[in-house]
Amino acid sequence: MEIQPLAAELNEQIKISSPNTYACLSDIGKQIFFPAGILTQSGEAKKKATRFNATIGVALENKEPMYLDATKSYFNHLKPSEIFTYAPPDGLPQLRKAWKEKIVRNNPTLAGKEISLPVVTSALTHGLSLAADMFVGPDDVVIIPDKFWGTYQLIFSTRRGARLSHYPMFDSDNGFNVTALADLMKKEAKSHGKLIIVLNTPNNPTGYTPSVEECQAIFDAVREQANQGTRIVTLSDDAYFGLFYEDSTKESLFSGFCDLHENVLAVKLDAATKENFAWGFRTGFMTFGTVSKGADALYPALETKAKGLLRSTISSSNHPSQHIIARLLKDPEYQKGIDEKFQILKSRALTLKKVLADERYKDDWSYYPFNSGYFMCLKFHRVNAEQLRKYLLDKYQIGTISIGDDLRIAFSSVEEEDIEEMISLIHQAVKELS
Ligand SMILES: Cc1ncc(COP(=O)(O)O)c(C=O)c1O
Repeated sequence: MEIQPLAAELNEQIKISSPNTYACLSDIGKQIFFPAGILTQSGEAKKKATRFNATIGVALENKEPMYLDATKSYFNHLKPSEIFTYAPPDGLPQLRKAWKEKIVRNNPTLAGKEISLPVVTSALTHGLSLAADMFVGPDDVVIIPDKFWGTYQLIFSTRRGARLSHYPMFDSDNGFNVTALADLMKKEAKSHGKLIIVLNTPNNPTGYTPSVEECQAIFDAVREQANQGTRIVTLSDDAYFGLFYEDSTKESLFSGFCDLHENVLAVKLDAATKENFAWGFRTGFMTFGTVSKGADALYPALETKAKGLLRSTISSSNHPSQHIIARLLKDPEYQKGIDEKFQILKSRALTLKKVLADERYKDDWSYYPFNSGYFMCLKFHRVNAEQLRKYLLDKYQIGTISIGDDLRIAFSSVEEEDIEEMISLIHQAVKELS
């Protein structure tokens, strides 16, 4: 398909600043652009058309967006223009700026590194899907540990035709299996000039985040592969960012990838979904980072490509949610609220660990190390996980998720005082089934 002039212009800017990033773009990634159409013209009119502005497709009344009083009554503190009109396709500028400041604040090793402005997505799933549009195609391979969020299959494989390639996430010492990741990169690089590496920390479903040393080993392995000439796109899925309860790294792996090597393009996907306890808001972010010859040209070009993808799929994300999150980030009570909820979840995780340490359970199951996030997984010695799941549901009205041989337990959704009883009943069910 012929590349449109505006896309060619963006491609040129990307190629000059980072030839690797250009080479990593998928076919759609190369073709996408943001048209100088209605939104550009109405943007100009917004600044200059002080008499009459007959550009954009919203209805106005007394210079305010038209709205139903009944709808407005559900919103107490937002202005009509913050609720009813469209948000810009790439998100509210003040939210993008505030989220970037938050990313840098929460990831101290990002200090002094150049990263893009986050583009607002309709939460994290959508961000992953946009990243897949930009960088993943049918000839690609996506490297993912064997413990992973099932939706990756739909995003990368079913929709984009890429092949998922797995490595065992844990080694025999129950640490992150960096050797397996390095070996798989080497193997796949023999037939692929570009690798896409997805790392989700804290991990769904195991609740594991690597230690600082393990992260360093991951960065070394990726750098080593990039040194061989392999192009690498890292996608950091930070859905559960911040929920680090023990001795793991407290940073996103994006901080280490974003300036690792000129052959490495780092993409960070995060969201208010779980970080701000706002699952239904559908507010997320996609941020880029790489070693480049000109961040001033590269990042705006990548952001514009993302804006083109947004415009051509959902047009723009939810507007009132963005205003609420933008205000929340500046709210003096914000950090206190986050800390309080963090303590509740941490306490549940530690209680669960204490309960699981009971000798009674040692013949029933083992479990993967967990130190973060929402979940942990039990692995059974004598019963089938799916059979157990159904039995728990029918006999004890306990809901869990079976994933292959494992049973995922979301301690995020069980009160601390109920954890002991829940585990004891799972033990009872295992006894009855085996
Ligand atoms: C690892 C992981 N990534 C992404 C998501 C999706 O997040 P969002 O609801 O923001 O799309 C989830 C949610 O379940 C998840 O577990």
